[in-house]
Amino acid sequence: MYTPVFKELSGRGFGEIVKIVFSGSSGAVRRITVRPLRLKGGDFWQCEKIVDDKAFHQNIEAEKLQTVLGGILNSNGFSDINIFLADKHISYHTASNGRLNRKESARKENRTVELSHDRKKSYILPEGTEIPPLVDLGVFDSSYRVVKSKYGKFVQINRFIEIIAEKLKHFSGNELRVVDFGCGKSYLTFIVYYYFTFIRNINTRIAGYDVKKEVIRDCRGIAERYGYSGIEFFEADISRGFSCPQAADMMISLHACDTATDYALWHAIQNNVRFVFSVPCCQQEINRQIKFRDEYSLLGQYGLYKERFSAILTDTIRCEVLRSCGYDVDVVEFTDSSATPKNAMIRAELKHPPPGANMGVNAALADINRVARYFNVSQTLLNLINGAAAEGQADGLLADEHTSG
Ligand SMILES: C[S@@+](CC[C@H](N)C(=O)[O-])C[C@H]1O[C@@H](n2cnc3c(N)ncnc32)[C@H](O)[C@@H]1O
Repeated sequence: MYTPVFKELSGRGFGEIVKIVFSGSSGAVRRITVRPLRLKGGDFWQCEKIVDDKAFHQNIEAEKLQTVLGGILNSNGFSDINIFLADKHISYHTASNGRLNRKESARKENRTVELSHDRKKSYILPEGTEIPPLVDLGVFDSSYRVVKSKYGKFVQINRFIEIIAEKLKHFSGNELRVVDFGCGKSYLTFIVYYYFTFIRNINTRIAGYDVKKEVIRDCRGIAERYGYSGIEFFEADISRGFSCPQAADMMISLHACDTATDYALWHAIQNNVRFVFSVPCCQQEINRQIKFRDEYSLLGQYGLYKERFSAILTDTIRCEVLRSCGYDVDVVEFTDSSATPKNAMIRAELKHPPPGANMGVNAALADINRVARYFNVSQTLLNLINGAAAEGQADGLLADEHTSG
């Protein structure tokens, strides 16, 4: 009976169908909507089933559309099937005599087929916003539409800026000073500047740091081209002594590789930077060292899990070091994992700055050291804070000696 529907759909490519809606059933499944969905892992059909006013979602591989339709049509008795293509609407209705009637009409406006998971989400800097550096960086095309291959980046930088915007919604300073470590091509740097300068009207100064000479040269060129005079770029290896002339209210780092995140956080800690937004990636330092001993050796059996365990241990240590230095810390998923699998952001605000010499000398630091000793690992940020704490204690002892003697 549904052969015409199958025929109708079998000649259509994945990107041609906007959605298919099945309705008019007296059964428990009242409505099913099928939409194309492009994820990192490939193309899928997302089926949304409405059962008792609740929505259930399932993603099915693109090539299995016919099988999916067969299952839906044979078991649910839907009387109406509406197929929405970019330019037309085709509907099938099963009449009381059992005949399937077809109608076709042109759609008033041509629709584009939106394949992304985030289709319903609105962004703080949506597609179409005239941000010229994003054209130079290949995120937007010349009509300010998102370039398909850069969609993940577009989502990441939007979500990042949304989280910052929320945290700083009451920021009332005359000037906002930002450092961006491991800025790379500086997608994020440019939109942070754009957002605070042109949308929030705050005088914004940003210093972007990266170890790559060419990247810094290109970023300087873009900033100059658009008169973004508040952004400066510096070529520097942040793991070595580098000079950072500008004090900062906020430190951002997006995917600063491996221990570069530690040096970024360390800079924030040492300079009492109030706001920290850091998304770590490729946390290899602990993964290279960790050995699970004795009865725990099975924890190290599977490379992927070992890697994830090491990343979690690394980032937990980082959060706790920040906490030991007076930051309130939380961790949020700033995008879903289709935009980037490295989607955990460490968000921190300095609320209880400790007196300089006592940096990190407290119970929190003792707890972290105990954990690191247990796993027999050395971790960069922890080493840096331990070094500073030891120096602080030595200075304190010296001061005591001077006053008592
Ligand atoms: C994965 S990219 C991320 C770039 C950018 N933040 C983004 O999200 O598009 C990491 C960047 O960190 C930089 N980087 C890594 N180690 C560094 C170090 N020790 N000092 C400065 N930059 C570093 C790399 O050169 C690279 O550009």
